[in-house]
Amino acid sequence: MPQTTAQQVSLRKARVEDVPRIQKLIHIYADQGEMLHRSLNELYETMRDFTIVEEDGKIVACAAIHVTWDDLAELKSVAVAPEAQGRGYGKLVVNRCLDEARELGLRRVFALTYKPEFFAKFGFQIIDRSMLPHKVWGECIKCRKFPNCNETAMMCYLDKREQLAMDGP
Ligand SMILES: CC(C)(COP(=O)(O)OP(=O)(O)OC[C@H]1O[C@@H](n2cnc3c(N)ncnc32)[C@H](O)[C@@H]1OP(=O)(O)O)[C@@H](O)C(=O)NCCC(=O)NCCS
Repeated sequence: MPQTTAQQVSLRKARVEDVPRIQKLIHIYADQGEMLHRSLNELYETMRDFTIVEEDGKIVACAAIHVTWDDLAELKSVAVAPEAQGRGYGKLVVNRCLDEARELGLRRVFALTYKPEFFAKFGFQIIDRSMLPHKVWGECIKCRKFPNCNETAMMCYLDKREQLAMDGP
């Protein structure tokens, strides 16, 4: 885990008291149109999806894995505080969410993103949006860009990712 001698860093599941700070972190980027805003109500209901990184008591990264169907989950709300970017925290929370998806018995994880190059680092591949279940688009109505969305749909096949890791570089 990335760490300097001066910092206490922990990677852990979110707790109920973290929710307002998770919302603040997400809304830094939602206000810039890079992510969806999330209400406190929605975040409390889905807080068990969230993994966070805490640095010296401050939440500096979050990501969520949300189960959508029998073999499918969405990786969502991936955010790292501006001052903490480039230190590996994005990688940390995404890898933990993908591990969690695998532990839950899921085979595929998708993401809708403006940062396809970042997700490609974890084995996500660009897919046709029509591959995703209709229920996924229910959220889009909340987006201020609706219906002119230019997010990229990507899929990570967890068994292939495992295979790549076993094959080595
Ligand atoms: C995208 C984001 C999550 C990256 O977080 P981070 O902590 O800075 O990333 P890391 O330091 O863990 O980088 C992991 C790897 O991704 C690469 N990377 C980081 N940001 C990237 C980007 N925007 N595009 C492509 N690659 C990126 C890094 O170079 C690193 O590569 P390496 O493993 O080969 O060295 C962060 O910039 C962020 O929160 N952005 C705003 C919100 C956002 O766009 N979220 C994405 C989901 S919609």
